[in-house]
Amino acid sequence: SSSTQKSGETSEGSGTDNKDSGIQELTIKISHVVAENTPKHIGALKMKEVIEAESGGKIKVQVYPNSSLFGDKDEYQNLVANNIQFILPDMSKLVGNDPGFNIPAMPFLFESDEAAEAFWDGEKGQEIFKRLEKDGVLGSAFWPNGAKHMTNNKKPISKPEDLEGMKIRTQGGQLLEALYAELGAGSTSIPFGELYTALQQGTVDGQENTFSNIESKKFDEVQKYTTIMGHTRVDYALLTNTKFWDSLNEETIAVVQKGIDEATKVAIESAAKLNEDALEKLKSNGKTEINELTADQIEAFKKVLEPVYKEWAEKIGTDIIKDAESR
Ligand code: LMR
Repeated sequence: SSSTQKSGETSEGSGTDNKDSGIQELTIKISHVVAENTPKHIGALKMKEVIEAESGGKIKVQVYPNSSLFGDKDEYQNLVANNIQFILPDMSKLVGNDPGFNIPAMPFLFESDEAAEAFWDGEKGQEIFKRLEKDGVLGSAFWPNGAKHMTNNKKPISKPEDLEGMKIRTQGGQLLEALYAELGAGSTSIPFGELYTALQQGTVDGQENTFSNIESKKFDEVQKYTTIMGHTRVDYALLTNTKFWDSLNEETIAVVQKGIDEATKVAIESAAKLNEDALEKLKSNGKTEINELTADQIEAFKKVLEPVYKEWAEKIGTDIIKDAESR
């Protein structure tokens, strides 16, 4: 079994000679909704690799991408029921649990993945994660994906009025709804797993997402226009449940935690690069016409969205938003 041991390479783990002795035999299921070529899946695969190797095969990790086990509508309740042990929802899917999870939808709030990361790993961000404990859910880590951009089938977008009358799919939540209402657009939330079909059939005119989500799900096949605007973000919460976590002994926790930590590094490192690569692919595919908002055009959107921003800063908590703005 020494072939699976990596203690020589990974010195920050346990200091014991026989690290396999007390590790529990178990199967961990990780369920998520996006494709394979995404930071979320790459991170989940890293978790599998590290946990399986570090446990000497005692722990098996199964990763279910593409809503193949559970989708947006039922993954949280199945986590609570301990039918799965980890999920990685876009925080916009958690807004029903706490308004703080609307933060990635605050228009133009964070300028970079690093800023979002600094906030969520900081005191205020961690407070928001802790509010899930009432459900028996624990926040294990923050993983960024990146800024969201608009795609649609009606027209190229260069100013706020261009969205008037469009129907936009969102990830969910009242803030995104308010944002599109302010722009004169209608919106509806549709699970990610049903989005391609909804775009193809014209159930909605457009949607907002990261380049890696757009490209890996081939939304450019069914969306004529893509506008680079970065007005909102996709950011993930790696969540587990207390039923599972409390059943682990210390040695097992150390192994799982190591998987979480290494996966988090890989997910963070890969997110921006995957988005860059995906944008290049969208360009070379040539299926969707791409325009990028200028700084002045972005200012026009900021101005129109100011009332929504202010209203939601108060709803979320001005102290929390100040902290986020300072990142
Ligand atoms: C979406 O539903 O568009 C995204 O939140 C999917 C994801 O998990 O990145």
